Amino acid sequence: MTAVLGGSSAPGLAKEIANEIKARYIAVETGHFPDGELHINITEPRLPKRIIYVQTMSPAPNDKLIEALLTFDLLKDLGRREIVAVLPYLGYTRQDHRKTPGEAVNVKTVMNLLADAGVNELVSVDIHLHRLNLNELKQLADIEINEVSAIKMLAEASALENPIVIAPDIEASRWAEMAAEALRTDYGAMEKKRKSPSEVEISFGDLDVDGRNIILADDIVSTGGTMVEAAQILKKKGSSDIQAIFTHAVFSSTVCPGNLFNAGITELISTNTIRNEFAKVSVAGLVAEALD
Ligand code: R5P
Repeated sequence: MTAVLGGSSAPGLAKEIANEIKARYIAVETGHFPDGELHINITEPRLPKRIIYVQTMSPAPNDKLIEALLTFDLLKDLGRREIVAVLPYLGYTRQDHRKTPGEAVNVKTVMNLLADAGVNELVSVDIHLHRLNLNELKQLADIEINEVSAIKMLAEASALENPIVIAPDIEASRWAEMAAEALRTDYGAMEKKRKSPSEVEISFGDLDVDGRNIILADDIVSTGGTMVEAAQILKKKGSSDIQAIFTHAVFSSTVCPGNLFNAGITELISTNTIRNEFAKVSVAGLVAEALD
């Protein structure tokens, strides 16, 4: 027997997943003490053996992480030993190496915190991996990791005639390649140098996009800086219509997503890993398949 529990950031998605796998949905009550500390309560007395807990890590990744950890540890106290964390947007993956001797390696710490709190298995969507690959991520902690991808569905939800798929940076190549394969078209990657957390400089290489419809593909839009820079350059190079597909609508800046439209992108196509108005693709079915 399995139940799906929903954290505060993803009750809708948790219910959809419960529906897909025909399991009971149980809400986790969350409240706050006057100083902001969290209070978690599971009032359902008959919890099954296997628990799937759905919580996405945006907005407010710090709060969402603590909420998830408190819930996992509570489930452990309640005697549950089969705990699956469905974290459709997995935060804390950016900081994946130590550039200077005093830097924290967030992804390692977070994976170990999840394991210590009792998580046996993690299911996530299009994990933001740069220097680490999936196998290296799996080595960080004693958790089985299942990654599913929404890129094919996102590509299929776009509607441009004879498009070329463009990755706004080299790291996004793997998403562009998947989208191009789904659409049976070609793809290319731009080269990006990050000047500051909100400023990037992109060079274009030899891609010929003159008169072409473009699908820009990436896993995340955060400030929107990467997509904006890419779209502006593509426009200068004479490209025609530009649509953007991306899995996680982090939208961390107040100018995003408006800045994407101002840069000439005509349509944004995203998923519901984070609640947003451009979520045209639901990842519930993909996650359900991974949960077997
Ligand atoms: C690389 O840094 C990533 O692949 C994304 O391009 C990035 O996270 C998007 O960030 P932003 O929207 O802030 O440019």
